[in-house]
Amino acid sequence: MAKHVVTLIPGDGIGPEVAAAVQEIVRAAGVDIQWELQEAGAATVSLKGTTLPDEVLDSIKKNKVALKGPIATPIGTGFRSVNVQIRKDLDLFASLRPVKSLPGVATPFTMAPAGKGGQPGGGAVDLVIVRENTEGMYTGIEHEIMPGVREAVKIVTEKASSRICEFAFTYAEKMGYPRVTVVHKANIMKKTDGLFLECGRAAARRHPNVECVEMIVDACAMNMVRNPNRLGVIVTLNLYGDILSDLAAGLVGGLGIVPGANIGLDAAVFEAVHGSAPDIAGKGLANPTALLQSAIMMLDHMNEHDCARKIERALRNVYERELARTGDLGGRSTTREFTDAIKSQLV
Ligand code: NAI
Repeated sequence: MAKHVVTLIPGDGIGPEVAAAVQEIVRAAGVDIQWELQEAGAATVSLKGTTLPDEVLDSIKKNKVALKGPIATPIGTGFRSVNVQIRKDLDLFASLRPVKSLPGVATPFTMAPAGKGGQPGGGAVDLVIVRENTEGMYTGIEHEIMPGVREAVKIVTEKASSRICEFAFTYAEKMGYPRVTVVHKANIMKKTDGLFLECGRAAARRHPNVECVEMIVDACAMNMVRNPNRLGVIVTLNLYGDILSDLAAGLVGGLGIVPGANIGLDAAVFEAVHGSAPDIAGKGLANPTALLQSAIMMLDHMNEHDCARKIERALRNVYERELARTGDLGGRSTTREFTDAIKSQLV
């Protein structure tokens, strides 16, 4: 019997390609995982009549850990996001996205003239986004009041805001970040974002060793471009976190490299920040780095720290020595060549 059983949802678009690459690398690194394959998304509708069959949630609840590829969501019409449903149904309240540059991957800071605008030293970016994952603008409660007038409901609760802020301060303390930046728009949304900010302040009082900075979301976007490292750990509401995560990804080389985790009290789902990339799906060109870095987070979560570091070293070597590079980062390597390069560095 394998040491670990992990639910694997390959997803659609480039999902199956990057998931296969990650499975291969994790196996080569010597982690004993039995993957429990589960399908979700548009493909399961004709077979099971739903985009999120019960057995997917049951499998995650049983195994407590899942690795998930991207799942496409139609814009404007069609089914609700499977990603949002999984996060809600399993109460995965914390979205954790560490944004760090990789060696050899140019950032706007390495490309900018040194010393201008307070860029981070050496061009290396290191910040973390903790996003509330269960409420805010993502309740899916929308209706038409009258023709031409529509309304969306934003829900902010003390319970969800408190636990996400507590999560962020605890994470900052544990990982050695000196500062948590609480990002909000309480100047305009005084009740909802105001409550979130109050919960941030309360968490700050419980963690006196971590500095607390309050920042309005638009100012945060500007500061993230000028000097991202000063932000430390950002904690914010659902929609702001979603947008800022992609901005942050752009600072370190794009969506192909940034990992993520959705963490609850009983289960955790690890997934890349990027989507299903329909423009390159099925061509063998996808960069598996984001899902691989998500898998590294997953291995740490499962206390497989040695194997996590082994894969991390291999990944850094491949980037630093330019042994392979996919098209999203200006290279010409295929997913296959990139995967082989990582495997060659697993020592
Ligand atoms: P996207 O992230 O799929 O693609 C944006 C651009 O980045 C494309 O040019 C794509 O080729 C490139 N890209 C993304 N990941 C890459 C990778 N690993 N390697 C190389 N290039 C990569 O965003 P888009 O086009 O807005 O969304 C497509 C679909 O994905 C939508 O249906 C959306 O709802 C879904 N989506 C799903 C997510 C999830 O399952 N967690 C997250 C984000 C979007």
